[in-house]
Amino acid sequence: SLPSSPTADLPLWGNPAGGWDVPVFPQECLNRQQALSVVRQMQKLLVAQEAAHLRGTRGLRHQLSILQSRLQRPPTKQTCPQLAVPLNGRMLGRSLRVGHEVHFVCDAGFRLVGSETRACRHNCTWSGTQPFCRSIDDCSSNPCANSGTCVDGNQSYTCLCPPGWSGPSCQNWVTLSNTSFSHQPRCAEGRSGSRRCSCDTGFQLRPGGVCQDVDECQLYQSSPQMQICLHDCLNLPGSYRCLCPPGYLLHADRNACEDVNECTGKQHNCTQGDLCINTFGGHRCVRPKCPPPRHNTSYVKTSAFQCERNPCPMDSRACHQAASSISFHYLPLQAIRTVPRVLFKMSTTRFVGDSLRFTITGGRGQGVFAVRRSDQQTGELLLASPVAGPATLEVELEMSEFSHKVLLGKHIFKVTAFVSPYVF
Ligand SMILES: *[C@@H]1O[C@H](CO)[C@@H](O)[C@H](O)[C@H]1NC(C)=O
Ligand SMILES: *[C@@H]1O[C@H](CO)[C@@H](O)[C@H](O)[C@H]1NC(C)=O
Ligand SMILES: *[C@@H]1O[C@H](CO)[C@@H](O)[C@H](O)[C@H]1NC(C)=O
Ligand SMILES: *[C@@H]1O[C@H](CO)[C@@H](O)[C@H](O)[C@H]1NC(C)=O
Ligand SMILES: *[C@@H]1O[C@H](CO)[C@@H](O)[C@H](O)[C@H]1NC(C)=O
Repeated sequence: SLPSSPTADLPLWGNPAGGWDVPVFPQECLNRQQALSVVRQMQKLLVAQEAAHLRGTRGLRHQLSILQSRLQRPPTKQTCPQLAVPLNGRMLGRSLRVGHEVHFVCDAGFRLVGSETRACRHNCTWSGTQPFCRSIDDCSSNPCANSGTCVDGNQSYTCLCPPGWSGPSCQNWVTLSNTSFSHQPRCAEGRSGSRRCSCDTGFQLRPGGVCQDVDECQLYQSSPQMQICLHDCLNLPGSYRCLCPPGYLLHADRNACEDVNECTGKQHNCTQGDLCINTFGGHRCVRPKCPPPRHNTSYVKTSAFQCERNPCPMDSRACHQAASSISFHYLPLQAIRTVPRVLFKMSTTRFVGDSLRFTITGGRGQGVFAVRRSDQQTGELLLASPVAGPATLEVELEMSEFSHKVLLGKHIFKVTAFVSPYVF
């Protein structure tokens, strides 16, 4: 019988780790022709194998030499990445090298948002941020309501809302804007299964189940009958506080504003020689002056608030008819006092005549003052109409003493009223 013939694709193929395995054929089945064919095939394979090997080695060597030459070449100039030119704008400067700068400008009608200048830094990154050109002013239409502040954005605007308002255009009133002015109610289950909720004092349960601060100021202050503070009111979470204007101290128990006496408290700025007059809400510095000598008549200061006439020349009628004394009076007043109101009383200590006459002889505040006799020896200065402050009113009064209709003497009262801006 014929031996089974080995086919060409029979050989047991390579062992990559080492050498080649020689194909083994059963001796008795191999004819010469077949063996030669196998040998030739093997030779061809070897040649191909050799060529592939050589190509691989050559490739590796080539790669190595490229790498070497690159490493040996001097380093190239370092650059930053290419930058985008903003839409509707231009980029000035083309160099992208380290240490160089580029600048950006926008076309007319557009505004640059972002970095105007960008520098290529040593680590090959750009400083700043990529700018863009935005059409000018999204805020020009005043889109923010309720005194919101408009902030121009990237083709948009943002409204910064004042306290109490919210929403894109500050159109929403937020009652709960300040958390201290609201809190969660405390609730308890009742026996019947009902819920009872309560709020802290000064808070009120509102629809929505929130305890909301009661604004005592708004509730009471606007009505004169219910006013809780004399001057100003500040709402606080759960309560309120009264405020007084400068020059007053809050009397906490009564919510009243009490005048500070700057003159006793050394809080005044009057120079030496001045007299400090405390007024409601402030003080004044005064320096009473005697009238200058005139028509043989002269005066001398006899006390801080008084001038006396010097002795007259015997034959000087003008001097004898002039006032024998002048006194100065400074009256602090609150605004809008009820009238008529007696401001002060005048009398003479050494009354020798039989009658006294009181008259207003001058001064800027004449219209609001009046004088009257209260008894034989006394007169009164009256406030005849209410005065809105702040105001300084002056009036000059004359008190004449007569005996049998003959003038015995005259005294002048110079009165200055300082009216406060406030009714307290
Ligand atoms: C490049 O350097 C700057 C400072 O010069 C630094 O702020 C930046 O983070 C650096 N960037 C990188 C990617 O290292
Ligand atoms: C500005 O807006 C445009 C489109 O709305 C967007 O593509 C761009 O990235 C924005 N720029 C910035 C800096 O936000
Ligand atoms: C809330 O109101 C209280 C009292 O007026 C104030 O002290 C606090 O700062 C306010 N808080 C905010 C977030 O407005
Ligand atoms: C003195 O104080 C009053 C108020 O206290 C002020 O209006 C005035 O300007 C001050 N005068 C001087 C000279 O500082
Ligand atoms: C002032 O006094 C002198 C005499 O001492 C007298 O002659 C003169 O008339 C007087 N003048 C006036 C205005 O009274």
